[in-house]
Formats: sequence, C-alpha cells, structure tokens
Amino acid sequence: MSRKVELKAITPLKVGEKWICRCGLSKKWNEEDPQPFCDGSHTKAKSEEDGKVYEYDSEGSRKEVS
Ligand code: FES
Repeated sequence: MSRKVELKAITPLKVGEKWICRCGLSKKWNEEDPQPFCDGSHTKAKSEEDGKVYEYDSEGSRKEVS
C-alpha cells in the first residue's frame, strides 16, 4: 500500500528539545518510536524548484514528475 502526499516544508519544526520532520523524508521512525523525528534527509528537498513536483522512493532517490 502506498499514498501520495503533497508536502512543501523543507525544514523541521522544533518542539521542546526535539526536531520534528515536516518534509516527509525522514527514516528516523518505526513502529516502536512512531514520532517522525528529523534525520537530516530534508537537505535533499532544498534543491527542489518552485512549480515542479517530485517523488522520492523508499531509498530517498528523487525524480521529477509531471
Ligand atoms: S525535516 Fe524531514 S528529515 Fe528533516
């Protein structure tokens, strides 16, 4: 099962002493620790261009889609 979600944030959100992922690319979560903490993967999104749409696969590789 998979789904497409549109996210535009490219930086994490600091909550207390934790950094929460807002880009959707973090791998720093699992069933035992379901909080989506930032793992630095958002740096991949910083070179995204306005007006373009991208997909990321489970390995974090990006491709532009129309
Ligand atoms: S904001 Fe998603 S990995 Fe940092």
